[in-house]
Amino acid sequence: MNLILGVGGGIAAYKAAELARLLQDRGFAVNVVMTASAREFVQPLTFAALTGRKVMTDLFDQSSPEGTLSSSVEHIGVAQENEVLLVAPATAGLIAKFAHGLADDFLSTTYLAFTGQVFIAPAMNTNMWNHPATRANLQILRDRGHVILDPEAGRLACGTIGPGRLAEPRYITDQVALLARPAQDFVGDTVLITAGPTREAIDPVRYISNRSSGKMGYALAEAAQRRGARVVLVSGPVQLTAPAGVALVKVTTAQEMHSAVLQHLAESTIIIKSAAVADYRVASAAAQKLKKTGEPVTLTLEPNADILADVGRRKEHRFVVGFAAETENLLEYGRQKLASKRADMIVANLVNSSVTGFDTDLNDVTLITGTGDIALGQASKRELAGRILDYILRQRAGKS
Ligand code: PMT
Repeated sequence: MNLILGVGGGIAAYKAAELARLLQDRGFAVNVVMTASAREFVQPLTFAALTGRKVMTDLFDQSSPEGTLSSSVEHIGVAQENEVLLVAPATAGLIAKFAHGLADDFLSTTYLAFTGQVFIAPAMNTNMWNHPATRANLQILRDRGHVILDPEAGRLACGTIGPGRLAEPRYITDQVALLARPAQDFVGDTVLITAGPTREAIDPVRYISNRSSGKMGYALAEAAQRRGARVVLVSGPVQLTAPAGVALVKVTTAQEMHSAVLQHLAESTIIIKSAAVADYRVASAAAQKLKKTGEPVTLTLEPNADILADVGRRKEHRFVVGFAAETENLLEYGRQKLASKRADMIVANLVNSSVTGFDTDLNDVTLITGTGDIALGQASKRELAGRILDYILRQRAGKS
């Protein structure tokens, strides 16, 4: 989900940096808007580095590559492209502006143009928090349906003791993740997702496999399910718990995965093949545990069916997404896979890094489509899952 993190001016502004990180870990694509006073406490560069995105500050940004005319309506675009607005810390001044519709900077104009869910995490001096004006302004925001994440009591930066300290970033993140309702833009779709590795037996106790953890596929399943899809998750052996509400089909071998995918193909409208399927299996797995002889052993491998290519051949009206795990020539090999497997989109990821790819929380991907490449860059698998789904909808709309 796309989220605007509005940072107000207060000593707690530094905590918004941790918030930006935690929110991304939970799958939000975070776009930061800072007020002028927030910039007195924290540099925009901090947020730009944490999110990998431009930080929005000035209503009339002369340095904008689009020029002053388009940048003067940038807040409208930001308001339209995000589903959640979280303001933390929200000062008494910002709360008053929001309550009374005063729009004189990027954050307050974005607020007025925004139609999604709003979360307000106030932080201020105790007397300001207790002032009847602030109480009344907060009530206006509550009546509008905004969620107010009350500050904690404690010793404040101004020396007073009482309520006013920004709620803990972890608490704020938990509440936003719990209460944010994603757009239900996959209602009516059945999304068939494969995840994790396959295991190909050598004998009853040994097998050939790979380092896939299933995190990428499970993140896709969770995101699609939250956006209203019926999800069938065909999973190889992993250590993850399937998201609630997802129909889980457990498989071990590539042949089992192939059968499960074909079994659920008819009911599916979108197929996403993020599993790392073994290309080969042992031609004749031993019935008993192989004994050590001290001599070299030769295993004969025979090819497994290419499940994605098989789906591509039978896809009809379905939207088919494959992955490409490459250690070199990412885009070239990805484009070859798009064509040879008759996919509508290939999610290409380089897998020779210890930070992204197999068995990590991050990935670095480029979407390859018939109409061009879209570099999504490095982000958490949860965040990327949401963005991959966004592009599936866009590409599908362009196809029909
Ligand atoms: O599981 P994680 O630890 O989160 O790691 C994620 C990931 C790196 C495994 C994932 O992002 C990824 O890249 N998955 C695809 C891995 C892979 O097998 O890529 P490939 O380039 O070898 O295969 C291309 C496509 O064909 C894939 O969609 C694959 O699912 C499919 N395939 C491959 C072989 C086969 N026999 N049948 C298939 O359907």
